[in-house]
Amino acid sequence: MMLEDKVAVIYGAGGAIGGSVALAFAHEGAKLFLTGRHLAPVDAVAKDITSSGASAEVAEIDALDEQAVDKHLQSVIDTAGRVDISFNAIGIPDMTTLGVPLVELDVEQFSQPITTYTRSYFLTARLAARRMLPNKSGVIMTVTTLHSRTGIPQVGGYGAAQAAKEALTRDLSAELAPQGIRVVGLRPQAMPESVGSKRRFFEPRAKASEISWEQFQESLASRTHPRRLMTLEEMANVAVFMASEKASGMTGTTVNLTMGSLDD
Ligand SMILES: NC(=O)c1ccc[n+]([C@@H]2O[C@H](COP(=O)([O-])OP(=O)(O)OC[C@H]3O[C@@H](n4cnc5c(N)ncnc54)[C@H](OP(=O)(O)O)[C@@H]3O)[C@@H](O)[C@H]2O)c1
Repeated sequence: MMLEDKVAVIYGAGGAIGGSVALAFAHEGAKLFLTGRHLAPVDAVAKDITSSGASAEVAEIDALDEQAVDKHLQSVIDTAGRVDISFNAIGIPDMTTLGVPLVELDVEQFSQPITTYTRSYFLTARLAARRMLPNKSGVIMTVTTLHSRTGIPQVGGYGAAQAAKEALTRDLSAELAPQGIRVVGLRPQAMPESVGSKRRFFEPRAKASEISWEQFQESLASRTHPRRLMTLEEMANVAVFMASEKASGMTGTTVNLTMGSLDD
């Protein structure tokens, strides 16, 4: 198994990406510590994991709350002795700013996703790194999307937030890789199985373009090389590889999972 006995903490584990990464990590032998802002969806993921015989602990943690994240990591160390993988998969619903032209957008609304995504990624990465440094080993991971690298109208501060996270991945790696800690990101395009992707990628455009969700998916798929969108399972399989020793040569980078929609 690729992640045998690795101790992994996932933030936003009740979401589409956090949940599928958790299942894939568990399948490869990792010991999971799943967290989320609300316990019910995280519990559901943990149930799937434990029913397959793997291990998953759950905790209600707001990944913007420094003390809560720190206290939880200490409890992981107390229980499992180490933290090997930190995966930040939080996603925030942003129904007020998506669909609004930038020239009409209030500055506080523009800043909100930038502050939220970067604060959470910084906090979870920094606090995990402090636990990984004594072992001179660990992997810090997050997920972004192609908004980080291409202009898309009426997404408020979302694109800037994603670009900032990718910059932080590079900067963290530049400081931590000499200490044995890799920092890597995944950049998938919208995955149709996730409700979050519908909210974030389709709904801002739905009013203006008057196309259905199905037509929107077809239009995104037509820009990929295989003419289809990625599944959550495919994304999670790459996450497993990136978290594993097999990817020991990869750090300071965000893996392009847009299947050709976005050139490197
Ligand atoms: N889904 C896609 O197709 C796709 C593609 C590319 C990139 N992404 C990116 O991947 C990330 C996750 O996407 P997703 O589709 O998995 O989103 P999702 O299904 O909406 O899940 C996001 C999860 O994050 C949790 N969360 C939000 N704020 C939190 C906080 N402060 N502390 C702890 N947990 C928090 C949510 O919990 P509650 O619901 O309980 O608040 C939810 O469980 C996003 O950054 C998104 O931009 C998604």
